[in-house]
Amino acid sequence: MPTFLNSAAWQPAIKRMPGVQRVIDLSVVVEDWWFDFYHNVDTSSQISDQKILGWPTDNVNFHYLPIRPKCARRVLRELPLKSRGEYTFVDFGSGKGRMLLIAAQCGFRRLCGIELRKELHDQACRNFRHCHNVETCSFESLNMDAADYECPNEKLVLFFFNPFASEVMAKVLRKLIASLDRCFRDVWVVLHDPSCAYLADRTPQLRLQVAQNGYRIYRSTSSTREPEETSAPSSPSDCTKSNLRTETASANAASFND
Ligand SMILES: C[S@@+](CC[C@H](N)C(=O)[O-])C[C@H]1O[C@@H](n2cnc3c(N)ncnc32)[C@H](O)[C@@H]1O
Repeated sequence: MPTFLNSAAWQPAIKRMPGVQRVIDLSVVVEDWWFDFYHNVDTSSQISDQKILGWPTDNVNFHYLPIRPKCARRVLRELPLKSRGEYTFVDFGSGKGRMLLIAAQCGFRRLCGIELRKELHDQACRNFRHCHNVETCSFESLNMDAADYECPNEKLVLFFFNPFASEVMAKVLRKLIASLDRCFRDVWVVLHDPSCAYLADRTPQLRLQVAQNGYRIYRSTSSTREPEETSAPSSPSDCTKSNLRTETASANAASFND
């Protein structure tokens, strides 16, 4: 593609223009406010409160930053699943549950959040109890370290919005691989804003399917067996798109620019 048609090439230049960053910041504030108001929840993040608790200085377990709703919806649209009702969606580092509330609109069988910090877990539970305008679905929030989580023997979508450093990610992936060795099944790993993507890239049991716009999507693969699920034509009801992209090795270095 010619460089001038590639938005990743000119977006940084536009962001540097006077006033543009302020407009972007304001639109994020409005988007956040509207999400909470519309769903009757509190998924906001106050960095000053987090500083008192010392979370931003933790270089292993990152602090809370809720995902932008438009980014969450975009990545969910890109998941090439045929029947979402067969899959459990797990958010590693689920915070106050915003990603789970958005995923609830996409027809997953079950939704599970894993959150290290009790204050955030408690707020997620309150949000699940009181939310409006969310399709009924089974929510669960577990207050625990993701490194200790055992993946259930189900078809899974595992979501990571930059929750922790590579030492925790390595433990999570080791547990996932052991679980796939015991019981091979269709598992999709979604890394949003991935600082530890290199660990997933090096995992032979995961094959990169999509790499763009700040996220990477992998699918479980086995040398002896392929998962039976394949991408299907899109249907408006399940938010899927029939645009599965199997990336070549060169695409592994794809830009993460939003
Ligand atoms: C960037 S926020 C993501 C929030 C949420 N996933 C969303 O999309 O709105 C990262 C979250 O990971 C949590 N976290 C950090 N280390 C963790 C760990 N070892 N186990 C579980 N959660 C962790 C943080 O407390 C924080 O809530």
